[in-house]
Amino acid sequence: MSRLPTGVRGFDEIVGGGLMPGRVYIVTGPPGAGKTTFSVQFIVNGALMGENGLYLSLSEPVSNIIEDMTSSYKFPIKDLISRNKLFFVDLAPYEENVICGDEKVKSYIEKFLTAYTHKIESAEHYFTLTDVYHFLSKILPPLKIKRLVIDSVMGLRGISPETYGKEFIKFMRGLKTFNVTTLIISEMYETLKYQPEHFMAHGLIVFHHFLHEGRMVRGVQVLKMRGTRHSEDIFEVVFTSSGLEVTKRVIQI
Ligand SMILES: Nc1ncnc2c1ncn2[C@@H]1O[C@H](COP(=O)(O)OP(=O)(O)O)[C@@H](O)[C@H]1O
Ligand SMILES: [Mg+2]
Repeated sequence: MSRLPTGVRGFDEIVGGGLMPGRVYIVTGPPGAGKTTFSVQFIVNGALMGENGLYLSLSEPVSNIIEDMTSSYKFPIKDLISRNKLFFVDLAPYEENVICGDEKVKSYIEKFLTAYTHKIESAEHYFTLTDVYHFLSKILPPLKIKRLVIDSVMGLRGISPETYGKEFIKFMRGLKTFNVTTLIISEMYETLKYQPEHFMAHGLIVFHHFLHEGRMVRGVQVLKMRGTRHSEDIFEVVFTSSGLEVTKRVIQI
């Protein structure tokens, strides 16, 4: 099967050349470990290769994310937005919830967002998987999205907790029909405290931030990737102005 290069230097080598297209990956780890940077790098690199990307936020205004990412790194985000290669959307219908390069596309997306206004007004401050799926089904095909980031699973629920697992599987199957490769960001507040979607996703990429030989180290570990051989070791991650870069093995499992 062909692989999708993430463009994150050193990462593709540990997963046999890249991610498998059409699958859903969970990106998890503690705050500040690099989840957002990795995910933005994934869509930026895709867009540079001609694959359109969508960053769907369920919690934070997308303008903040763009601001943080462009002030920390030299990602050409603004240029890719203006060329209709990258789209940033906040599902919560606040102001500035759609950042894209075309006014017509912007009003098309905004039209669908109004369906979720009541969720915010009724302080029912989360979206169900069905809401997200419904929204994506309207947006992904016309915008020709090939790489998708959903940030984060904290803002996602099933219709009821009992059916969440089943709904998540349906959600993943649905995404597959759009031929899109998805990263879902999931916060991890306690080390290795897994959530249902961690078991169901096709792959689980964990970012770590830990004390190693007297210094704080950032690391990445691929705990699961169906259909491929991969290392489960922890590799050191360094941040540069071009984003994060995977360097050497720090912990052998
Ligand atoms: N150019 C840079 N060089 C070194 N560290 C950086 C740079 N830019 C950001 N960082 C650090 O990288 C961290 C990465 O954050 P982020 O990707 O937002 O993590 P997460 O989404 O997991 O919270 C930030 O906490 C910041 O301290
Ligand atoms: Mg983040």
